[in-house]
Amino acid sequence: MADLAINGGDPVAPDGLREEWPIVGDCEREQLEDVLKSGNWCSAGFYFEEGESKVKRFEDEFAEYIGTEYATGVPNGTQALELAFRAIGLKPGDEVIVPSVTFFASASAVVLANGVPVFVDVDPETYQLDPAAVEAAITEHTKAIEVVHYGGYPADMDAIREIADTHDLYVVEDAAEAHGTEWNGEKVGSLGDMGCFSLQLGKPLTCGEGGVITYDDDELAERVYSYSHLGRSIESGKYEHHVPAGNYRLSEFLGGILLAQLNRLPEQTDRRYKNGEYFAERLAEIDGIDTLKQDPRITKRGYYFYFLRYDAEQWNGIHRDDFMEALQAEGVPCSTAHNDPLYRNPAFANIDPVLQHGNEKDYDAMHCPEAERIYDSEAIAMGKDFLMHRENIGKIMEALQKVRDHKEEL
Ligand SMILES: Cc1ncc(COP(=O)(O)O)c(C=O)c1O
Repeated sequence: MADLAINGGDPVAPDGLREEWPIVGDCEREQLEDVLKSGNWCSAGFYFEEGESKVKRFEDEFAEYIGTEYATGVPNGTQALELAFRAIGLKPGDEVIVPSVTFFASASAVVLANGVPVFVDVDPETYQLDPAAVEAAITEHTKAIEVVHYGGYPADMDAIREIADTHDLYVVEDAAEAHGTEWNGEKVGSLGDMGCFSLQLGKPLTCGEGGVITYDDDELAERVYSYSHLGRSIESGKYEHHVPAGNYRLSEFLGGILLAQLNRLPEQTDRRYKNGEYFAERLAEIDGIDTLKQDPRITKRGYYFYFLRYDAEQWNGIHRDDFMEALQAEGVPCSTAHNDPLYRNPAFANIDPVLQHGNEKDYDAMHCPEAERIYDSEAIAMGKDFLMHRENIGKIMEALQKVRDHKEEL
């Protein structure tokens, strides 16, 4: 059998399993041309005496897709979260429970809304918030639980909802990576009080840079509108401003792109989901590699990452990073995702104490054993794109088997 590519042999996938992304066609071009010709490049309501803006149409269609009353487009996923935390009325010193395994913005958005992130550990089999750790972290200052459907895998929303109801807490879903994921037949983003999505380039629904918030409550709708439209109320005139607030509107060009991309999302999600299930079955062929837990309550998975769980003990003690390098050399695109539990990021030790309102946390002293193990030695993340074609899974299986057969050479 050929040598490992890392030792000079031929790689299994010399093209690196490169896939087209974003996928665009005539629909996107027509939408952009439409906006260009109309001259209505701004989505503010007062430019549309007749008809509706494309951003508004996207918001309505996205709300219907997710199953909420409202959706509001914003410039990015970080601002979606920040606005959501402001809309639920977060005050300086209020705590928000955040998983340690996620992207930086999940917690920086809490700080931007003047809240205090409290990091907790995750379930080792799902990489999502551990409900027992959430329960243990609740204090008199806790205002909300931020659920992150990390990589597109849903958190245990039955348990989280129950804890939130018992303690009268808001649930904000960071669904930045989970467009199309379903829990018991309902889409994430409709399961908490507010859902926040990123529409950045790598995400399953994208316009390059963008975000969208989903929610049902009319009062939240008033606040989101006001905080994202320079303090205007839904009913107020153009120069009537009720709170000091920023402008978080999306441009019409992005609205047009999103309408076209949203049409593509259900088919792409189904395809990735079916291929992801197939990959999970095939992985049983390789000792020492597993994936996240199968759970019948997950009725569909949108993917941002496909996670492999690497068990060094079954690989002669070879470190995950050395194994990963060998896999990359075979042409399999993979990484450690976000590298470190969030509290290890120096940014949190540098929060201005004034913002914490006497409720300062010692982030340097934090320790979440599962989060640390996952990032230090277990998790291997593969971006969603390979899931578009089943042939890629055959190639990845071949590469995994090849590295397995040659493990003595690593
Ligand atoms: C889990 C998570 N939350 C929040 C964000 C922030 O989204 P954006 O990059 O659109 O600001 C991202 C995006 O990468 C993310 O992955």
